[in-house]
Amino acid sequence: MKKILTLFLSLTLLLGLAACTSDDKPQNTPQNGGNVQTGAAQAPEITTPDQENERPEMAEGGKTLVVYFSMPETTNPNNMTTEEANSTVVIDGEVLGNTQYMAYVIRQTTGGDIFRIEPEVPYPTDHRTLVDLAAEEQENNARPAIAAQIANFADYDTIFVGYPNWWGDMPMIMYTFFEAYDFSGKTIIPFNTHGGSGFSNTIATIQQLEPDATLLEGLTISRNDIQDAEAEIVDWVNDLGI
Ligand SMILES: Cc1cc2nc3c(=O)[nH]c(=O)nc-3n(C[C@H](O)[C@H](O)[C@H](O)COP(=O)(O)O)c2cc1C
Repeated sequence: MKKILTLFLSLTLLLGLAACTSDDKPQNTPQNGGNVQTGAAQAPEITTPDQENERPEMAEGGKTLVVYFSMPETTNPNNMTTEEANSTVVIDGEVLGNTQYMAYVIRQTTGGDIFRIEPEVPYPTDHRTLVDLAAEEQENNARPAIAAQIANFADYDTIFVGYPNWWGDMPMIMYTFFEAYDFSGKTIIPFNTHGGSGFSNTIATIQQLEPDATLLEGLTISRNDIQDAEAEIVDWVNDLGI
């Protein structure tokens, strides 16, 4: 079902929305459930996916960075298939990935910079093709190349890192990302969206990949709840004490 959120580009976020709990029941299938977006929700001020890696703030550096990978399976808000609706949130006609939406709310709450991890070779948006390719990458322990690098990475000491659950793990491009940057002495705050599996084992994996980083407690949200999760995300960020 088509998901619709109303965007109000206001200065503050409304905190009155009901928080939802995340759906952590183990399930290693990408096909379950439906992610229905309805009702009027206060959305974060957003930049378009094309603009966000070019924001001047990126070049100037800052203390907090929100990095994410997200794979919305369509850019068309109309007549979505179930799979397309599952992977997207629609805000004022703009289609965002579930993890991308989380990243925007976090960024709006922290005031930090934001960087989208994009593959050098774009992923297919056809669901079955994407699912098969992701499985193949995982089987081959692939390291898909990332299109752009983060400027002044050393300037950031708190880094939110977001990704969808793919086949019970991070997408392999997240391994490329963690291997490309030195997180020693930095604080990593993971977040993800999923179709039932929550974080799976990814928190332990990140700590293994970045043994000299401090990991704070992350937030995982089911794609079924993402449309109503703004207040939960804001509360979580505010409770981190960063
Ligand atoms: C290739 C692929 C594999 C997936 N595997 C899982 C999985 O193992 N467990 C799960 O809970 N969800 C799985 N999902 C569902 C996604 O985690 C979920 O739809 C997520 O919210 C998508 O986030 P995005 O829109 O930011 O890409 C998978 C989705 C895709 C496309």
